Amino acid sequence: MSEIKIQNISKAFGSARVLNDISFAVQDGHLLSLLGPSGCGKTTLLRIIAGLEYADEGSVFVGERDLTPVPVEKRNIGVVFQNYALIPHMTVFNNIAYGLKIRKIAPDVIRKKVEEYISLVGLEGMTDRKVTQLSGGQQQRVALARALIIEPDILLLDEPLSALDRKIRAEMQYEIRRIQQQVGITTVFVTHDQEEALTMSDEILLMHNGRIEQFATPKEIYNHPVSLYASDFLGKANTLTGTLETREGGWFVSGEGWSFPVRPKEGFAAGEQVYLAIRGEQVGIYAEPAEHTVACTVKNIVFTGEICRLMVDLQGTAMTVSCINVLADRFRAGQTVYIGVDPAITHYFKIS
Ligand SMILES: Nc1ncnc2c1ncn2[C@@H]1O[C@H](COP(=O)(O)OP(=O)(O)OP(=O)(O)O)[C@@H](O)[C@H]1O
Ligand SMILES: [Mg+2]
Repeated sequence: MSEIKIQNISKAFGSARVLNDISFAVQDGHLLSLLGPSGCGKTTLLRIIAGLEYADEGSVFVGERDLTPVPVEKRNIGVVFQNYALIPHMTVFNNIAYGLKIRKIAPDVIRKKVEEYISLVGLEGMTDRKVTQLSGGQQQRVALARALIIEPDILLLDEPLSALDRKIRAEMQYEIRRIQQQVGITTVFVTHDQEEALTMSDEILLMHNGRIEQFATPKEIYNHPVSLYASDFLGKANTLTGTLETREGGWFVSGEGWSFPVRPKEGFAAGEQVYLAIRGEQVGIYAEPAEHTVACTVKNIVFTGEICRLMVDLQGTAMTVSCINVLADRFRAGQTVYIGVDPAITHYFKIS
């Protein structure tokens, strides 16, 4: 069992508090993404788990083992960084074999194992190349094999894909996930890219200024963000300012000339001003009015490849609605359309 348990971790550099009472667990075999903007403390937290940095307070457990006082070399953790940290003059083989050589494993065992891990990460035929003769994606595969070959209890990855271009990055997202699942290793993956976190993770831990903003599965955090910060960070949403109303036995958020149904929420009262967050792709758009739809004017339709973005004017407020291309073909600039939202995935937040 290699569950990771982080308990009440706090850390300051001088007078700057970087991590504030962080607690969470990663189940055995799961991949957790630490997600958040630059400077929110992701790398510091990862380094504390790795043993490259010590927390001021709190503990790190892997399985039943309390690693808090254990030095880095005794933790048995695999780490991959953004810059790969490969040894440039060495071959793929020697880079991957490195951790086994310093453990003084017999050469024939090393050769067999390196071959196994080269095949796991898809680098067959490249064994004797110098790592400087590899592409960024291939170098990251070497880094991954090197981290995994020591059979670590857990794997930590700090923005391993951020140096790669878009296409290779997407390919490596699937590759890392495939390898992680094949090996079944409990993993913490640092990223500031929401799409990457949504694509790869079993769970996402969203951080905000050294605190946990939300801990949830990708679907849950995307569909049910707990705050405007979480809603904004996980994807584009239209943020409208409106007033909470109760009528016809239901709750609504209403503004000048518009009103959308929402779910009741504890701690909110009718008459309160709130932010209403509506994701562009979660909006229904119709040519005819229906119950609880609001009339808008299409201002512009932008083709982006996979989807179209309709810029609409909602009674004086600009909104963006996304839909697949075939659907967008039904609409024209200048046309009156009707938009509606699903209250189950439409969220409102306090204006603080
Ligand atoms: N060794 C250090 N000494 C002083 N301050 C530090 C040190 N390491 C990190 N910090 C500060 O701690 C904060 C968190 O840094 P950290 O590297 O954990 O952020 P991050 O979320 O990984 O950011 P990024 O996405 O840019 O990598 C930052 O304000 C940073 O300047
Ligand atoms: Mg970082």
